Amino acid sequence: MRNINIALLGFGTVGSGVYNAIKSNEETLKKELNANLIIKKILVSDKTKKRAEDVNPNIFTDNFTDIITDDIDLVVEVMGSMDFAKKCILTAFERGKHVISANKDLIATHGQELYKAAYENNCFFMYEASVCGGIPILRVINNHLFGEKIEKITGIMNGTTNYILSKMYQEGLEYKDVLSEAQRLGYAEADPTSDVEGYDSARKVAILSSLCFNTYVTFKDVYTEGITNITKQDISYAKKMGYNIKLLGVSKENDGKIEAYVYPAFIPNTCQISNVKDAYNAVYLKSNLLGESMYYAKGAGSLPTASAVLSDIVNIVKNMSLNLPVERLDRNFEKKEILSIDE
Ligand code: NAP
Ligand code: HSE
Repeated sequence: MRNINIALLGFGTVGSGVYNAIKSNEETLKKELNANLIIKKILVSDKTKKRAEDVNPNIFTDNFTDIITDDIDLVVEVMGSMDFAKKCILTAFERGKHVISANKDLIATHGQELYKAAYENNCFFMYEASVCGGIPILRVINNHLFGEKIEKITGIMNGTTNYILSKMYQEGLEYKDVLSEAQRLGYAEADPTSDVEGYDSARKVAILSSLCFNTYVTFKDVYTEGITNITKQDISYAKKMGYNIKLLGVSKENDGKIEAYVYPAFIPNTCQISNVKDAYNAVYLKSNLLGESMYYAKGAGSLPTASAVLSDIVNIVKNMSLNLPVERLDRNFEKKEILSIDE
């Protein structure tokens, strides 16, 4: 049986979830993959922090130069940040390592550079966990709907704000009263401004739009409005009128022109999306053969996100054993007009 050595960058909410997911499913993974997934090293910022007792303390390092060594097959970046994470991933590619990342900030901004580097170094690059946590939405777009024309994407793409808005609706609270609970549950970003101001959803809209419409849409192209101005009175009025308020991400292509936005919207209670609660996400796609399809799962938190990372690990290991060629992820991309949205 082959050993697959993994360098894990980050051991917070997602990184510890990945560790636990691999441990708890060890036997199934061995049987299915005929390979042994071994977390060889873990990069953290503070090596002295107390970690779970079942993890070998000797595999932690705070020194990046220790981590991407010859024996490593896969690098899993679940650390966050922009410049440092980018440096780590580019270094991993230069050294011929396949990479998995959950870092939507980085991909929504520097995707083009990362795709190029992955391809030029013959490395697989997967990032299912970067968009909508447990929903395998990138796999749907890249595999199931690959031969279709996708016309529109709509959805709840942020678990933290959906958790907050659901609590405001159910319990009449203000958003600030619920934010700390969303942080404690591991849903929010290190800086939760990204969640509540809509930037996190905008990054996901950018990544999805790029893949659905085969062009580069970056974070800056997405008109973004968050939930910080939504009060409990707004929610209460919506409720009285038979509506809910949800933070939506929307993107569509019309005549080769793309529009992309994130905004809080009134949704009638008769719509399925109005009843998406807690940290769940829901994404609708409209494509020319299937028509409308909807995908639903928990969008944030340790294990839902780890499940997406693990699915990328499994896919890369399978690709490696089948000797599948690495394709450039943006090979079908073309230049398209992105409409700016007036407020
Ligand atoms: P987190 O709980 O804050 O954990 C971050 C981890 O990375 C920590 O272990 C930290 O080390 C380490 N780290 C941070 N900066 C570092 C640096 N410069 N050098 C070395 N190690 C560093 O974050 P998280 O919630 O797991 O999120 C990680 C990534 O996954 C982010 O890109 C986030 O956007 C993405 N993501 C998160 C979720 C979610 O539900 N939380 C879902 C999807 C995607 P210490 O332990 O020493 O502090
Ligand atoms: N902070 C993000 C959210 C994590 O709440 O959706 C998942 O991407």
